[in-house]
Order: sequence, then structure tokens, then C-alpha cells
Amino acid sequence: MSTAPEFHIDLSEFRENPYPALKQMRAEAPIAYVPELGRTLLTRLDDIKAAEPDIEHFSSAQPEGLMTLLMGENMMRKDGEAHSVERKAIFPTVSPRAVRDHWKAQFASAAEAILDDIEALAEGDLFKLYATRLSGEALRAITGLDLSWQEMDAVSQAMIDGIANYTGDAAVEASCHRATARIDEAITKAMKGEADAHSLLATLQNAGLPEAATRANIKLAISGGQNEPRDVIAGIIWALLTHPEQLKLVRAGEVSWMQVFEEYVRWLAPIGMSPRRIAAPVSLNGISFESGDDVFLMFNSANHDEKYFDQPERFDITRDAGKHIAFGAGPHFCAGAWAAKALVAEVALPMIFNRFTLTLGEEPVRIGGWAFRGVLNLPCKWTS
Ligand code: HEM
Repeated sequence: MSTAPEFHIDLSEFRENPYPALKQMRAEAPIAYVPELGRTLLTRLDDIKAAEPDIEHFSSAQPEGLMTLLMGENMMRKDGEAHSVERKAIFPTVSPRAVRDHWKAQFASAAEAILDDIEALAEGDLFKLYATRLSGEALRAITGLDLSWQEMDAVSQAMIDGIANYTGDAAVEASCHRATARIDEAITKAMKGEADAHSLLATLQNAGLPEAATRANIKLAISGGQNEPRDVIAGIIWALLTHPEQLKLVRAGEVSWMQVFEEYVRWLAPIGMSPRRIAAPVSLNGISFESGDDVFLMFNSANHDEKYFDQPERFDITRDAGKHIAFGAGPHFCAGAWAAKALVAEVALPMIFNRFTLTLGEEPVRIGGWAFRGVLNLPCKWTS
């Protein structure tokens, strides 16, 4: 056990909004053992930036962890050479160049088709109608799998629920198994056909990765690539509609869509944390860890670290959000970051805001989650 002081949380309050408890931890116990999570949490930016690259001690390998057991052994749960081989293999699909030259145009045609479809509705839940569908269409193109956007969303959610199923709920586990079986079926089908040469499937096959690693990393990309762009697209639309003075700045060209993206993911990190396991005894900031201790790197908290962000709880697109670590802070830095940025900031947001005048509907917008956090619905009205 680490020597970190204990800090108790109310789990349901934490799910509702983790930021007040994290603020208290940063001030009083920046490295704290939280019994309700059974983990030691690192909440300050400097500590996370020191820990994450130190893979000798803060290891990603968790061969018996839920993610590995349910989805296969992917790059996110490997260190060093084993990790970098797979990371390099995925790169041709998600590189800035592939995004610019290949994916961006496909994202834009998907967005246009969706906007054409929903224009006449004039109102509805943009979380589902636009954010979920566009994210799913983009991921379908990137993975090279024949899964509809609804299936993409469903299998992604089932895997996320499965890997967070710490209480061992049998129904959640069964649903995760069905999801991974459905993905395997789609992979097998795509392997027999002509996958887009830029797709993840083709790239991983060309790299000569063993089939099990190819399958596991495609599942990783689906579990990590659907919810986050979805939540950021919907979340930013909501944030700008509730901060109209900031929307004006974007419309006037004074703040770019990319700045809006960076500030949003700082303010409300779609992925709140990443787990690590202590591989050898180590000390950090006066706290000693023993081998086998389980640690959460709290990216959401680091992005509100008062040392780097003034009034961190304010959504302010004019601030310099550049130091945020919403995509991580080490070798596992999100491989899909360029794709996500292009999809959200270069395609999804400018296209919908240029085409529609949006207002929020009457039904309240709900926000929830701590490990994954975002708006859960986005009732809106629009005119062209
Ligand atoms: C706004 C959208 C996104 C956010 C905020 C996000 C965030 C993250 C975070 C926090 C990590 C873990 C980093 C760490 O532990 O250091 C990660 C890893 C990863 N993400 Fe994303 N992600 C997003 C979109 C995507 C997309 C669209 C894809 C795929 C197309 C993707 C694929 C991956 C992969 C493969 C990894 C594992 C990288 C590795 O282990 O080296 N992500 N992402």
C-alpha cells in the first residue's frame, strides 16, 4: 500500500460532478488513497507529468485487468518496446497527414449528409442526431469495418461498461462479450474483402501484427474513438449556446474553433483518468508506492490545476489552454488526437454552426460521469 493519506468521496456525488472533490484533493492531499475507488489518485498536473513517462515504475501493463480480459491485449496496456511496435503500426492511419489528406474530406461528407437529413426536423436531440452519428460514421471509415453508426455507438458503450465493471455484474459482462463478438465478426468479414488501404484494419495487417493484436487494437480504437469525439461535439455546442458572448467571438473570427476545442477538453475532460500499476517501489512528492499499487492519473483534475489555470472552473475560450493533458502526458498520448481535432474543430462544429442557427430546447441538458464525462442529451432547435 502507498503511504498516501486517505481521502473519502461520495461515489454518487463524484459521478454527478467529480470536480469539487478533486479540488479539495489538490489542495489537501494531492496524492490520495480513495477507499471508495480502491486506488491512489494523482491529482496535480506536475505529478502526473512526472509519473506518466516513468514507465519503469508507473506501468501500463495489466495482463489480468478487465480491459485485457475482455478486449484482448492492446497497446494501451503495454509498456516500452511492446507498446511502441503497435503504436508505430497504427500511425499511418491516424497520422496528421492521413487525417489531412484522407479522412477530413470523408468526415466532411458524412457531416453534410447528416445535416441534410436533419435540416427539416428543425428540432431534436443533437447528441444522438448529430454528435453520435457523425462520430460513428468517422470511426466506421477509420476502422474499415462495416458497422452502422448505431452499432458503433452500442459496441463502444458496451466495451466501456465492461471494462469499468468492477462489481462483476454478469449482464454487463455478457453485453461486453456480445459487443466484442460483433466486432470480431465485422473484422473477419473485412479481412476477406477489400478494406480501404488507409483504414486501421489494412494498416495493422500490412504492419504484420499478429491477428490477435490487430483485433485487440481495433477494439481499443472503437472503445476510445466513439464516445470522446461524440461528447466533445455535443459538449461544445452546449457550452457555446450557454455562453453566447463566447460564441460571438468565434463567429467574429476572434477565437478559432481549435482554441474552443482545446479549452473545452481542458474544462471538461472527456476521459477523466488513465490507470497505472506500480511495477517497482518508487516515491513521488513525499509519497512512497509499493509494487502492485493501483494508481489513477486524474487528467480531469490536472486540467483544473490552479498552478496552471486561473479560475479553472470557468469555461473561457480566450484563455491559453495549451498546458491541458486531456489526451494524456506520456507515451500513451492519444493516438487519435489529430483525427479527433480535425473531426470536431475543422468539420463538425464549423459545419453545423455555419449552416444552422441553433438554440437550446426546453428539456434540461444533463451532464454526468467522472471517468468518462460529458453531456448526455442535447435538445435543440434550429433554422437554416
Ligand atoms: C476528443 C477526443 C479524444 C480524447 C479526449 C481522447 C483521450 C485519450 C486519452 C486520455 C488516452 C490515454 C492517454 C494516456 O494514458 O496517456 C487516449 C488513448 C488512446 N486513444 Fe484517444 N481520445 C480521443 C479520441 C480518440 C480517437 C478518435 C481515437 C481513434 C480513432 C483514439 C484512439 C486512442 C488510442 C488508440 C489510444 C491508446 C494510445 C496508446 O496506448 O499509445 N482516441 N485517448
